[in-house]
Amino acid sequence: MTSQILREARKYEETMEQRITKEDKPAFHLSARVGWMNDPNGFSFYNGEYHLFYQYHPYSSHWGPMHWGHAVSKDLLNWKYLPAALAPDQLYDKDGCFSGSAIEMPDGRQLLMYTGVTKEPKPEGGFSEIQTQCIAIGDGIDYEKYPLNPVINEKDLPEGASRHDFRDPKIWRKADGTYCCLIGNRPADGSGQLLLYSSTDCIHWKYEKVLIANYNRIGKMWECPDLFELDGKAVILTSPQDMMPQGFEYHNGNGTLCLIGTFDEQNNVFTEEYNQSIDYGIDFYAPQTILTEDGRRVMIGWMQNWDTCNLHSPNRPWFGQMSLPRELSVKNGRLIQKPIREIEQLHGEKVTYKNVAFENDTIRLDGITGRKIDMELSIRPGDERDVYRKFAVRFAQNEQYQTSISFRPYESILKIDRKFSGSCRAIIHQRRCLVRNENGAIKLRIILDRYSVEVFVNDGEQVLSATIYTDQAADGISFFVDGSVKMDVIKYNLNVE
Ligand code: FRU
Repeated sequence: MTSQILREARKYEETMEQRITKEDKPAFHLSARVGWMNDPNGFSFYNGEYHLFYQYHPYSSHWGPMHWGHAVSKDLLNWKYLPAALAPDQLYDKDGCFSGSAIEMPDGRQLLMYTGVTKEPKPEGGFSEIQTQCIAIGDGIDYEKYPLNPVINEKDLPEGASRHDFRDPKIWRKADGTYCCLIGNRPADGSGQLLLYSSTDCIHWKYEKVLIANYNRIGKMWECPDLFELDGKAVILTSPQDMMPQGFEYHNGNGTLCLIGTFDEQNNVFTEEYNQSIDYGIDFYAPQTILTEDGRRVMIGWMQNWDTCNLHSPNRPWFGQMSLPRELSVKNGRLIQKPIREIEQLHGEKVTYKNVAFENDTIRLDGITGRKIDMELSIRPGDERDVYRKFAVRFAQNEQYQTSISFRPYESILKIDRKFSGSCRAIIHQRRCLVRNENGAIKLRIILDRYSVEVFVNDGEQVLSATIYTDQAADGISFFVDGSVKMDVIKYNLNVE
């Protein structure tokens, strides 16, 4: 039975979305149907389609009581909205249906596992949240909440574990047909930890252990965990709050973390070997992955960050978009990310240049413009013995606006800068990262949609994502070099409305 609260949300989104034109939305990145979107949820393949749910507040373009929005796609690029899947309509989730995941049950139904939130008054005034894990089962459109929710609550917590920060269950099925789930939690030291639970039916859960504790090493509370095997390694993805930079790795505030190591499934022991950021740009958080039918591990993240997102204009009828889905692999202890290959099906008109040589100059190239493009640049010094000092590509550019990627080979630093991208707030507009550079040779694949840029560096060794909300008429692209450079360019317009 659909509750009144969910029916109202569904009616509201259907009516209000008609006020938003297609041109006001990203063309191939999923965005909120109307109102607010944050984390991807329940990323899954079910009934022949990819399903992506998301943290959703339809009633305003700011965060509020969380619903689950819902969309489906056959290629992960063209999305169709379905009616909102969950609303905060029960006593145990009346203040929000927070993030979670999805799985197909043996009987063919789809199970959603999410965090139910209720607010409790604190003796000293104000409120604190109680977070428990709940399930809902459905057919890909309508979901029935389990009558005995929550299925995991404070009784199932180890000693010292907070019931206020206990969220974002990621569920998966093991080869033996039993289930596991990993949940973010805050232990007594105020830091973060990931708790592992097991079940034979997805409904009755048993606490197993702390899979990994943060001990205040990388940020504090770890949100939105994921765990999977990839290229012979075990990978944990999570999004820590309150991070501090460590050199050029990580940045202040909410960030992303990838741990690469091994996982002994018999004894549930994860051994970390490497750690790194997932995305080195400005806007990326809370990613989830799926294993596609053809065996690819694909990740999608929220292309925003908590530290900058509440400063947008309340007049915009929608806010929040997802990143491009990215194919993951592990090479030499590093996470490699590539845009999903389906993007090639959107490739339209192609323009190429080989060996464009220029010196101490800014140039433009015929046919190299656009706001919906997939463009690869291969850059090398004009003279191997005299490496250039700085190279920059500026895009989404007109007289007033521009966003840029610049590279200084002597420091090996790549910088993204959206200072001139229409923002009138003192938030983060630039971010730098250390990249591999062989004597000034570097590859940049730049994917632009109406309101974003994602830069894949050196075939996916690093990715920098940022949102840019400028006028679409700002579609110029120019290249700058201090020194001398040679450059190859392959640019496709993307055929999508
Ligand atoms: C991460 C997060 C999750 C939570 C959700 C609430 O961005 O804080 O931990 O479930 O957002 O919307």
